Amino acid sequence: MSFASLYTEALTDSTWTVPQNFDVCFNWMYDTGRAGMMGLYQKGKEFQWDATTRIDWSQELDEDNPQQLPEEMLPIAGMDLYQKMSAKEKAQTRKHFQAWQLSQFMQGEQGALICAAKIVTQVPDIDSKFYASTQVIDEARHVESYRMLLSKFGVAYAMTPPLKELIDQTLRDSRWDMTYLGMQVVIEGLALAAFQTTRDYAQNPLAQQVNAYVMQDESRHVAFGRLALRDYYPQLTQKERDEREEFLIEACYLMRDRFESREVWATLGLPVQECVDFQYSSPLMKTFRNGLFMRIVPIVKDIGLWGEKVQKGYADMGVLDYADTDVEALQKNDDSIARELDARRTHIRSTIEAGIAAS
Ligand SMILES: [Fe+2]
Ligand SMILES: [Fe+2]
Repeated sequence: MSFASLYTEALTDSTWTVPQNFDVCFNWMYDTGRAGMMGLYQKGKEFQWDATTRIDWSQELDEDNPQQLPEEMLPIAGMDLYQKMSAKEKAQTRKHFQAWQLSQFMQGEQGALICAAKIVTQVPDIDSKFYASTQVIDEARHVESYRMLLSKFGVAYAMTPPLKELIDQTLRDSRWDMTYLGMQVVIEGLALAAFQTTRDYAQNPLAQQVNAYVMQDESRHVAFGRLALRDYYPQLTQKERDEREEFLIEACYLMRDRFESREVWATLGLPVQECVDFQYSSPLMKTFRNGLFMRIVPIVKDIGLWGEKVQKGYADMGVLDYADTDVEALQKNDDSIARELDARRTHIRSTIEAGIAAS
């Protein structure tokens, strides 16, 4: 079955082209002076993995609740119209919402793949080019993994307009650091928090594995953005930094306020605006939405885009307290969770093999 047949609505175009206007940069010095960046490149090479062998794709999803997520993670779970649905309709709603979310992960990963390739060609430093090249293959593997997971759902959604708008802006900008800011900081930061919710709350082993392994790579990507921008932003003028802050805060509002799942409610024939309004007024959903900024805010502070406008914006969004999150501790935890899942799988495999040998 072709992937195109999984889309809830037939696509009008099979490709999307974004015009580019930036300089490709060679560097003849071959200086690999930054130990931090070269250390990250080394890790990028050492931690490569193969999605077809590290993950056991014979594992299945649950029929009623594919990733086995808690009911309250469905944004409309508290609505009367949902409570009154039959068991079959509820299962269909869960499946579509989860497929919509995973589709955005997959579509965003293709955005990351393209942006990482743009960084390779555009960034002036050779050590950054080296590292970004490892990110290109990481992102291809992420697209591959989410595509395989979505194929098991049998349903897929197109990239939502707000995500498309942000990726479009990021790609059209001719300044190399803006690709990092839009993709490595905002989109990857939000994605990391969203992957974490699925990794930590999904009871389905396949969904857990995909998200944990992708997150193990993403932590390096966020560290890459941090290293590159932390060195660069102090060299800019205040006016140039102000422009970055403006872009940043607008991007955060865009992703917070317009990243709705209206496509799901429309596909299911539910009253779209009523569902969207509920999603925005429900305190539980507000907590979930704010949680998405846990990984972005400390990075923004660390790279030095911490002017009045940004702080005011984050205070208004109610996410300023995340500024003191220990990002390195989170990254270590992401790494150890992925390793634990590997160890569990090895243990299960050796127990099965021992059983076969004994019989
Ligand atoms: Fe990724
Ligand atoms: Fe990434």
